[in-house]
Amino acid sequence: MKTIMVCIKQRLAGNSSCAGRGSVALANALEAQIASQALPLRVHRFPCLGLCELGPNMKVVGGDMFHHVAEADLPAIIAAAMDENVA
Ligand code: FES
Repeated sequence: MKTIMVCIKQRLAGNSSCAGRGSVALANALEAQIASQALPLRVHRFPCLGLCELGPNMKVVGGDMFHHVAEADLPAIIAAAMDENVA
């Protein structure tokens, strides 16, 4: 099954983490959209994708990485994950 990784790292200081910018809510919304469409995708909540200043970050395994993700971006990320060329 194809996987979308969502960084849910929360840092104590400042706002330099994906969770500090709302990634947990984004992960929940992503899972809800996938479930509502019964898509063969899974969400993997990951501790850090290494580009913290660009978060919230998501990565389609075998495909693209997405930065500064907002809820409006989720359909495009799902479409990218469903691309036949993504492993
Ligand atoms: S905190 Fe999300 S990429 Fe590091």
